Amino acid sequence: MHASMANGVVKLLPNLVYCLEYFLASFCLLQNGYPSRRRSLVDDARFETLVVKQTKQSVLEEARARANDSGLESDYIQDDVHIGSGDKSPTVEDGTQQDETKNGHLADADIGDDAGKANDDYTLTEEEVILQNAASESAEAEQEIQQAVILLRMRDGMGSLARILKTIENYKGCVLHLETRPSQIEGVQFDALVKVSMSRVNLLQLIRSLRQSTSFAGVNLVTENNISSKTPWFPRHASDLDSCNHLMTKYEPELDMNHPGFADKAYRERRKEIAEIAFAYKYGDLIPCTSYTESENSTWQRVFNTVLELMPKHACKEYKDAFSKLQEADIFVPHRIPQLDDVSNFLRQHTGFTLRPAAGLLTARDFLASLAFRVFQSTQYVRHANSPFHTPEPDCIHELLGHIPLLADPSFAQFSQEIGLASLGASDPEIEKLSTVYWFTVEFGLCKENHQLKAYGAALLSSIGELLHALSDKPELRAFEPASTSVQPYQDQEYQPIYYVAESFEDAKEKFRRWVSTMSRPFEVRFNPHTERVEVLDSVDKLETLVWQLNTEMLHLTNALKKLKGSHFE
Ligand SMILES: [Fe+2]
Repeated sequence: MHASMANGVVKLLPNLVYCLEYFLASFCLLQNGYPSRRRSLVDDARFETLVVKQTKQSVLEEARARANDSGLESDYIQDDVHIGSGDKSPTVEDGTQQDETKNGHLADADIGDDAGKANDDYTLTEEEVILQNAASESAEAEQEIQQAVILLRMRDGMGSLARILKTIENYKGCVLHLETRPSQIEGVQFDALVKVSMSRVNLLQLIRSLRQSTSFAGVNLVTENNISSKTPWFPRHASDLDSCNHLMTKYEPELDMNHPGFADKAYRERRKEIAEIAFAYKYGDLIPCTSYTESENSTWQRVFNTVLELMPKHACKEYKDAFSKLQEADIFVPHRIPQLDDVSNFLRQHTGFTLRPAAGLLTARDFLASLAFRVFQSTQYVRHANSPFHTPEPDCIHELLGHIPLLADPSFAQFSQEIGLASLGASDPEIEKLSTVYWFTVEFGLCKENHQLKAYGAALLSSIGELLHALSDKPELRAFEPASTSVQPYQDQEYQPIYYVAESFEDAKEKFRRWVSTMSRPFEVRFNPHTERVEVLDSVDKLETLVWQLNTEMLHLTNALKKLKGSHFE
């Protein structure tokens, strides 16, 4: 299996994110100021898009520079070069080699003036960089047989087809599938799609050779599988979340002179101490207890009492129900910050959600990915005591009072997981859209309840000022429609001017599902709770197994229904 460049990019990300964040921190501060500015997942997603783009660009440039300096380049330039390890120059059986091919390249007549291109820098496409990286791992990797699909734009009609096939043969390739169609591109007569099987090194040479011919307006290596090698890496098992802990450091107290904790060395030390728990945490561990100080518990108490006061009138029913259960379980009490492990066990019993400690603010992609596994990454530190009702970034008070009650509601938990599942393998622009949906629903969502407006967004339920603003007659209210909500600019410096209202969680889920089906990802995923694994539904076998499981479930449900109906007659 060839190495994925996307994985390479992901591996490079943590350092790059950290450095760039550090560099940009002062810029963001100057531009946006504090204290009104809040951290948002959307902002993180945008920043991540920028970093990934820049990182990918530098990886590609490096690979291209390597290619230009490498033997592959000289292989291409020299006529008498061998093709692949141990191979001799390609030969053709009909003796027309000199007329039609030159070591597998199309004939000079085809190459024309473009022959001079051999001396210019050769620009690899992203797919070729991935292929070349895979081939360069070892001599064996270079000779590994690879299936690939090449799309050729033929300027001169079908006459070029024989030459394509001949060239493939010369590179000891096997044609597995071939189809053509009239091209819709001006100046191109036909498009040919050729699926080949050949060694990686020969495949690279073949593409270079074909691309030198003026007969083709384009020669592109396209990925064959549903999951393209360009699909961003995503976790497949809950334990993979150990790798989903890339931090965004923009709002760390030591980076922001207006942060309430900037001048408080003891507070910053305390944050670091608590963050160590998350750094050390691995899948399957119990979440270690944090001994909160008197001052931290007192900050919690002030916010807790305010929420208790406002909740009856303004929170949605689902929030209030779960809040009561948390109180009954002695987890939500005024004088003590709940321990994440207790909360995690509570959630597990109600919806299967669990918590993971997060050292700080995660990238949007990592944060959303964890939701796919019904895992909520929660901070453990507490906002500064001098600012109990304002924090520029989420802290455990926001997570606990804002998010936890609704994660204990089955319908809302499902909605959260669907956002997470949609994020797996999504493109960067799609992650931005999903983050925006998250912002206007999970953080700032309103819903209808008996013709009244109620809050379900965590940022509203844990912030008195914005809650009262959202439910006043000042902001504009719009019906939740993912297509428009996902592109709505958000406000992170003052209260939102627009809020989105869901008819119900079920309605929001239904709309969200329909919208997600229009996203670019060419595959579907499903979470298997028994194995804690995300399954990619990309084969008939997998789908058949799933259908069999669902049929079994249906049988149980039908039997249960029959029994219940039968009991009514008795
Ligand atoms: Fe939040």
